[in-house]
Amino acid sequence: MLRVGIVGFGFMGRMHYAQWKALQGAEVTAVCDANPNIVQDTKKAVGNIAGAASGVDFEALELFSDYNKFLAEAKLDAVSISLPTFLHPNFSIQALEAGLHVLCEKPMALTLDECRKMMDAAAQSDKVLMIGHCVRFWPEYAETRKMIADGRYGRVIAATFQRLGTAPAWGDWFKDDLRSGGVAMDLHIHDTDFVQYLFGMPRAVFSRQAKAPAGGAIHIATQYMYDDDKVVVAEGGWGMTPAFGFEMSFNIVLEKATISYDCTRTPAFRVCPVDGETFTPQVASGDGYSIEIDHFARTVAGENPPQVITLEESRNSVKIVLAEKESAEEHRSVEL
Ligand SMILES: NC(=O)c1ccc[n+]([C@@H]2O[C@H](COP(=O)([O-])OP(=O)(O)OC[C@H]3O[C@@H](n4cnc5c(N)ncnc54)[C@H](O)[C@@H]3O)[C@@H](O)[C@H]2O)c1
Repeated sequence: MLRVGIVGFGFMGRMHYAQWKALQGAEVTAVCDANPNIVQDTKKAVGNIAGAASGVDFEALELFSDYNKFLAEAKLDAVSISLPTFLHPNFSIQALEAGLHVLCEKPMALTLDECRKMMDAAAQSDKVLMIGHCVRFWPEYAETRKMIADGRYGRVIAATFQRLGTAPAWGDWFKDDLRSGGVAMDLHIHDTDFVQYLFGMPRAVFSRQAKAPAGGAIHIATQYMYDDDKVVVAEGGWGMTPAFGFEMSFNIVLEKATISYDCTRTPAFRVCPVDGETFTPQVASGDGYSIEIDHFARTVAGENPPQVITLEESRNSVKIVLAEKESAEEHRSVEL
């Protein structure tokens, strides 16, 4: 039985908890959160999520507010780190040094230097460090990558990606660029990372961003430049009205088909081939979170599942987003 602890029990910590709970062969035995009211606050928050299957069984959990004590006393094999982003590096490194496997939420860190320190700590330990870029595991996104990689529909001509919603209402730290990296590093990086997963590192990026009256960026759109002439654009925003809700979507134009996904539409996933009828491909069951956690658990167990994400790629996604932010600030394209 893999003994798992969750560090940071907010929105994503509870998500990790639910996924680990559903996985056979693993057990969440401890939680570390600095919030002294975490039990009451969790009950409130879980009650607000429509369809949340069950609350959290705090009776079965050892609760810690001190991370050093948690690492020393909880007798864990692995941790899920779902803390505000600026805390990812130090907390991940400490867990690796304590001999634990680490699944750390995206983005890896806010600077390349911190990413490098995390990679060094992983290299010096015999434990797994994986960054939770869940979109790589999202069934429709994973299936799309397969369809592009095997060349069945020919070359990609154009690809556009959107991720649009409201700013997270639950954590003040999101509004602080120094703690979250802002909309580009927190939200839009999902699509930046998927662009990298599909097409590799771009040669350059050109971005524009819009700022809210209070000053912070709320919307970014980037063109990713490759050596060939395909058009690749991703747009991320958290300035939508609450009534808009949330959209993650893409349209990928290939020589012999258009592949389209929009989580707000039914059917969400469509392949429209040049010859034949539009159809919705079969995809893996579950969602990006459950498949990602299953993948991490199998990696930790030494099952060697096909590699989906490396630390170098996780770092490169941070590198691309930093270039996007520089491009947007300086109104020029930035080479990578
Ligand atoms: N993969 C995804 O789809 C996705 C979605 C949302 C957020 N995230 C990422 O997950 C991470 C967490 O986001 P969130 O929305 O869960 O944030 P959150 O604010 O809801 O939760 C953070 C939790 O960490 C706790 N915390 C803060 N400082 C701490 C400390 N020093 N020690 C222990 N606990 C501490 C807070 O009390 C809080 O409970 C971020 O990096 C974010 O980018 C990923």
